[in-house]
Amino acid sequence: MKITVLHGQKHHGSTWNTTRLLLDALISQEDEHHEFCANDIPDCIGCFTCIMKDEESCPHRSMTKPIIQAIEQADVLIVETPNYCMGMTGQLKTFFDHMAYRWMSHRPLGEMKNKIAIAISTTAGAGARVATKQIARQLFWWGIPKVYRLNKAIAAAKWDDVKPETKLKLKQKAAEIAIKTRKNHGRVRRGLRQKFLFKLMAVMQKSGLGTPKDAAYWKDQGWI
Ligand SMILES: Cc1cc2nc3c(=O)[nH]c(=O)nc-3n(C[C@H](O)[C@H](O)[C@H](O)COP(=O)(O)O)c2cc1C
Repeated sequence: MKITVLHGQKHHGSTWNTTRLLLDALISQEDEHHEFCANDIPDCIGCFTCIMKDEESCPHRSMTKPIIQAIEQADVLIVETPNYCMGMTGQLKTFFDHMAYRWMSHRPLGEMKNKIAIAISTTAGAGARVATKQIARQLFWWGIPKVYRLNKAIAAAKWDDVKPETKLKLKQKAAEIAIKTRKNHGRVRRGLRQKFLFKLMAVMQKSGLGTPKDAAYWKDQGWI
């Protein structure tokens, strides 16, 4: 399996360590895995270039392209973020903003329908569930059919202060998700809601309600 990890922060804290627990349970010798951080990508400037013209002309493409390529080539995508003020980090959201052109309403990558994703978040008290839900929502609109969520309130600001029993629970949950991911690799299918939305987008593209660039893409893919 090809596995791509996108960290929503650079430091090796509780979320990073939780991601390691998952990777330890998931990765075998035959797997290929790549890791990236969402940090340092400039804010989307709202120029609409990726949507209206061409994603390659995005002023930040040199920074986002290696990450996007690795995501698009992966079988399994892992996206993680600490909970910051009831949500994902700003830098991770900035990366997601640069993927607007890949939403189902624009030019989704067909292969997304075969991928499995895992959203990970930790929090001191509340909000990790919200953060993984936010990630899952983005990935749903890219067309990924299955997103597992690994989120936990760890009652600590630092990984060293996390209680051993909490770490054990995280390890068990990570192992469960790793087993499900391996089992379902190559077998995932879009659910009814995603299928319906994809059809709706096809109707929209066919009736000229999208951009000419998007409509040409849908025609090229043979979807309309
Ligand atoms: C900027 C910032 C905002 C945070 N917001 C919340 C919050 O809204 N609720 C909460 O329970 N913990 C919050 N925390 C605590 C972290 O979510 C928690 O310590 C998390 O496990 C940190 O993960 P990390 O070690 O990977 O950075 C916040 C921490 C920071 C630095």
